Amino acid sequence: MAATSAPCAQHFPLRVSRTRLYSSSSDCCPPSAGHNGSSDGAEKTAFGRRSVFLGRRVAFVGGRFGLILRFPPNFVRQLSNKARRNCSNIGVAQIVAASWSNDQPPFESSVSAASFAAAAVVLPEEEEVTESIKHDSDVLPSEDEAPNAVPTSAVSALFGSDQSLTVHAGERYGRGLVTDSITTPLVRTSAYWFKNSDELIDFKEGRYASYEYGRYGNPTTKSLEEKMSALERAESTLFVSSGMYASVALIMALVPAKGHIITTTDCYRKTRMFIEKELPKLGITVTIIDPADMNALKSALDQENVSLFFTESPTNPFLRCVDIELVSKLCHDRGTLVCIDGTFAPPVNQKALELGADLVIHSATKYIGGHNDVLGGCISGSDHLVSKIRLYHNVIGGVLNPDAAAMFVRGMKTLHLRVQEQNKTALRMAQVLEEHPKIVRVYYPGLPSHPEHHIAKRQMTGFGGVVSFEVKGDFHATKKFIDSLNIPYIAPSFGGVESIVDQPAIMSYWDSKEDRVKYGIKDNLVRFSFGIEAFEDLKVDIFQALEAI
Ligand SMILES: Cc1ncc(COP(=O)(O)O)c(C=O)c1O
Repeated sequence: MAATSAPCAQHFPLRVSRTRLYSSSSDCCPPSAGHNGSSDGAEKTAFGRRSVFLGRRVAFVGGRFGLILRFPPNFVRQLSNKARRNCSNIGVAQIVAASWSNDQPPFESSVSAASFAAAAVVLPEEEEVTESIKHDSDVLPSEDEAPNAVPTSAVSALFGSDQSLTVHAGERYGRGLVTDSITTPLVRTSAYWFKNSDELIDFKEGRYASYEYGRYGNPTTKSLEEKMSALERAESTLFVSSGMYASVALIMALVPAKGHIITTTDCYRKTRMFIEKELPKLGITVTIIDPADMNALKSALDQENVSLFFTESPTNPFLRCVDIELVSKLCHDRGTLVCIDGTFAPPVNQKALELGADLVIHSATKYIGGHNDVLGGCISGSDHLVSKIRLYHNVIGGVLNPDAAAMFVRGMKTLHLRVQEQNKTALRMAQVLEEHPKIVRVYYPGLPSHPEHHIAKRQMTGFGGVVSFEVKGDFHATKKFIDSLNIPYIAPSFGGVESIVDQPAIMSYWDSKEDRVKYGIKDNLVRFSFGIEAFEDLKVDIFQALEAI
């Protein structure tokens, strides 16, 4: 084959000026020839597998010899540290020289004069490079660090047509990804490729880190997961396509068929629907308790073999709070796991794991994303538990799109600032509304009138941006109040920078009067999610809308 008959890169004197250029040639020369690079640890380590694959893949296509010399990804960085004093343009250290024909003389004469000249200008002394590489062991090219890009001319020589170039140029033989970018690169891929079968086997046996397939992971999503783990003080986080899918995946992965779970009365309606309608199909039974009823919790734990206590805190829409420390203790004494849906309490307001819960989930669609523009969900907890859920997820799907992951990464940078502002506005507004003659009742954990204010004060550092309240009036008066508001959008969802308002009797329970009665959703209930608009503007708007009824 061309690969074995072609000359090895190291058969050529690879010296430029006083500096040695390295080339890895493990695929083109048998080890016995002494050219596999293994005799020189510094060279081998510094180049890693990416240089090897370029040597093999690019060099011998179509029976033509092509030599590409590449510097390791960290070489530029090394230059910027070590050779800054005599290097006016570190970009030239990324030179990739290529020779594209057997007919042409070997390397030196085929490298463009410009490349050569540039190399002569910037490359440091040999000792300097070697020393630099030796000290590189802690900054070796990581698996997700891209090699420097191959020049367009080299790729053009390999792919003779625009048809192929549109597919591969700029990508297949090296991406010019700038891994020192401030922002996390968005990696859009459905699958990951392996340089050869041995690398794939290394991956399968855990010696080489990659993802294999988009359902199993993505580098952008991994960054996001690490950010979330840091905030939740979790060992691990799994980000998924939506908050609902996070709940479903968690319950399906951790509760056995015919198992038993405990949940609370006030919660997101679709979660309740899943628990009441879908779980019985698997023989999973449920006990539903009031969020404050610890006796009911104890007796359910005594009577049933309970796998999981799953509850929101605060709850939707009445913002009830569960004593996370207490329920965790009660549940753990009986070997029951505790999961808190913390959608109403982003990690800057409440850290459920630190309070004792085993798992915390979020509809990241809300505060985490924070801009009303992306759906997602996440589950944080111990490596042990999250990897169980990840295994289920890897089979079932529900994958977060990498674009969405990038949006969450960006959104989360301002989580603290946004939520602080929302906490402040909501608390002040809850206090003002409670005093207003046209308001019957306000539900907000930051108010002393809230049934679990004492718990909220203990376990939350902020009470969130959502305030629920009942206006003085019937269904129509409430509808009129909402329609008179000018700032908030009438929409589902909450937690974003834009204020949102809804009348749960319409938005969430329009199809079932029976459920409205059962779950205490009155016609005059309003759920208001405060964004980051100015408090005074929102107050004026709310007051004028109340005047209208
Ligand atoms: C408390 C709670 N959990 C879960 C969800 C579901 O999240 P998603 O809409 O991202 O699927 C919601 C949605 O509003 C929610 O309020």
